[in-house]
Amino acid sequence: MDTKRLSSSLEEALSTQMNVELSQSHTYLSYGIWATDKGYGGIGNFLFRHSLEERNHAIKFMQYILNRGGKPTVTALGAPAPDPQSLQNCFNQVFKHEVDNTEKIYNLVNMAMEEKDWATWNFLQWFVKEQIEEETLAMDLIDKLKIAGGDRATDESLFNLDKDLGAAEDDAELARNATSENP
Ligand code: FEO
Repeated sequence: MDTKRLSSSLEEALSTQMNVELSQSHTYLSYGIWATDKGYGGIGNFLFRHSLEERNHAIKFMQYILNRGGKPTVTALGAPAPDPQSLQNCFNQVFKHEVDNTEKIYNLVNMAMEEKDWATWNFLQWFVKEQIEEETLAMDLIDKLKIAGGDRATDESLFNLDKDLGAAEDDAELARNATSENP
């Protein structure tokens, strides 16, 4: 008896997204190595943690496909994105990767809606919310570097930024999570 509860097209699209998340993880790992090698160990650590988070996203897709009776396929990973040219470029690229990924998640949501696959649509809402957090996190990186002086930041302000990011929370604080007790 066929117990698969996913269409073949959604099974394939979700499996592709699993590989996209793995390749994001690969790129952030590579960015983390770049930052650490440049002497920004705190930023490197932040990027390594983010790389792990992307891998966890891949596992979430994998688990969902399996739970619905499908079979995800791990494909060959391409080369990671090239090394950034500067910290500014690094943070801009992180933001761009996140926006690109949001587009991919939205395409999946559209597919699920067109197929009236409400289970998958519901599953994907977690990622819609997660992408808001990830884009906010990336915007925060850009803002923090801007405050530190951007491309003209002093060694001291970069030292402090590196220290802050090494200890930063992995999740962005979202405005909609604020309450009067926890503004
Ligand atoms: Fe898994 Fe940063 O998106």
